Amino acid sequence: MMPAPAERSSRMLLIFLKLLLAHHAFGQQSSESVNVHSILQQDSATHYEDGIPNSLRRFIRWAPKAELHVHVEGTLEPEMMMRFAERNGIPPPYPSVQAARAAYNFTDLEHFLDIYYAGCAVLRTRADFYELAMAYFRCAAASRVIHTEVSFDPQTHLSNGVDFDTIMEGLVDAAIDAEDQFAITVSYIMCFRRDMPLETAETALTLALPWRHRIVAVGLDSSELRRPPRDFESLFNRAAALGFKRTAHVGEEGSPEYIWQALQLLRVDRLDHGIHCLDDPRLVAALNASRVPLTICPISNMQLKVYDGQLRERLGQLIHSGLMVTVNSDDAAYFGAYLAGNYEWLSIAVGLDVRQAAQLVANGFQAAFSLPEGQRRRMVDTVRQLAEAVEAEEAAEAVDKSGGKQEAESSSHRRLLTLRS
Ligand SMILES: *[C@@H]1O[C@H](CO)[C@@H](O)[C@H](O)[C@H]1NC(C)=O
Ligand SMILES: *[C@@H]1O[C@H](CO)[C@@H](O)[C@H](O)[C@H]1NC(C)=O
Ligand SMILES: [Zn+2]
Repeated sequence: MMPAPAERSSRMLLIFLKLLLAHHAFGQQSSESVNVHSILQQDSATHYEDGIPNSLRRFIRWAPKAELHVHVEGTLEPEMMMRFAERNGIPPPYPSVQAARAAYNFTDLEHFLDIYYAGCAVLRTRADFYELAMAYFRCAAASRVIHTEVSFDPQTHLSNGVDFDTIMEGLVDAAIDAEDQFAITVSYIMCFRRDMPLETAETALTLALPWRHRIVAVGLDSSELRRPPRDFESLFNRAAALGFKRTAHVGEEGSPEYIWQALQLLRVDRLDHGIHCLDDPRLVAALNASRVPLTICPISNMQLKVYDGQLRERLGQLIHSGLMVTVNSDDAAYFGAYLAGNYEWLSIAVGLDVRQAAQLVANGFQAAFSLPEGQRRRMVDTVRQLAEAVEAEEAAEAVDKSGGKQEAESSSHRRLLTLRS
C-alpha cells in the first residue's frame, strides 16, 4: 500500500528539512542561524513549470542544488539597474524597466554582450555589489541552491574606474550574509575577459591575490569567436601556479578546437558551456572518459540561439551521452530564469525523468570546486533519496489516476512548441 498523498508530502518535506539542516550543520555557521522557515516560504515559481509531471516538478523545486555557472553581473534585474543608475548619477541604459526587458531579445552572443556590458556600467560602489549579490542569493535560495560558485568580471569594473577591493568587499560581505540568511555556501570565480587586452587580465590576477581565500578559480568569458584559448596560456599557467582552479567558456559558439585548447593548454578543471563538443566525436569520448564537467546553461543557449533549430536534440544528446553535465542559469536577469527554471525548461525540452534530473543535480555537487568531500557525498546521497521518495510518489499517483501522466506529457510538448516559436 502506498501512503496517502498528505502523508507522502509530509515525508518529503521531512527529508527536505533534514537535508537542509545536515548541509548547514557541516557548514561554517551554527544550525541556529538557518532560517528554514523563510527558505520554505520562498516561492520558486518560474515561467516554465506548466505541464511538467507533478513528481518531477516537486523534485526540481525541493532538491538542494549547486550552481556552478552564474555571472553576478548577469543577475542585475532591470529594477535594480535603474535604481543604481539613479543613485550613482549615471544615465540609465534604458528609459524604463519595460524598455530594458523589451531590449532583451538577442540575436546571438555578441548582441547579448553589448547589452550586458551596458548594464554593468551602473555598478560602482561596494553597496552596489553587495545588493546585487544578495538579490542573486535570494533568488538562488528560492531555487533551493545551497552552494554556488559565482563568476564576476573584474576587468569590466576596473575599466569603469571601480577599485578591485570595492568589488570584493561588496561580494564577500554578501557571501558571508548569504551563508547566514539563506544557508548558501559561496565561492567566487574571477573571469578574465578575452575581448580585453591581456595586460588588464594580468593586473586583475595580481589584484586578486589578497582575496584568494574567497576566489576559488579563474575563468575566461566574453566574446568567443576568433579569440582562441591558446592566447591565454601563460595567464592560466600563472593562475595555476598561484593555486587557482581553472575553468573557461569554450564551445558555446566556438568550435571543438577551442575546447581541446582549453583542456590541453589552459589545463581547465571544468568547461563552461562546451556544448559544441558534440561536433567532434573524439572529443565527446575524451570528455566522457576524463569526466571533466560541462556547466551547461539551457535557457541561455536557447535565448542566444546557440545551435538554433537543433538545441533540443543537442542538449538531449549531451545529457544522454553520459558526460558529466551540470545545469546552470548563466545570466538569469537577462534570460528570464534562475536555476529551477532552467531545470524545468530542460526537463520539457529533452524529456527528463526524475532519475535523470537527479543525476544532473548530483553532478552539480560532484563538479563543485569548493565543497568539502564529506559534504559532497552527503548531498549526492540526499539527492538520490529525494529522487526515490518522489518516484515512489509518482508510482502512487499513476495508480491513483491513470491517464493523468499522458495528459501532462502532451501539454509539456505543447508548451515546448510555444517556447521554440
Ligand atoms: C525579437 O526580435 C525578432 C527579430 O530579431 C522579432 O521578430 C521578434 O518579434 C522580437 N520579439 C520580441 C518579443 O520583441
Ligand atoms: C561514456 O562512458 C561510459 C562508461 O565508460 C560508456 O558506457 C559510454 O558508452 C560512454 N559514452 C560515450 C558517448 O562515449
Ligand atoms: Zn557564462
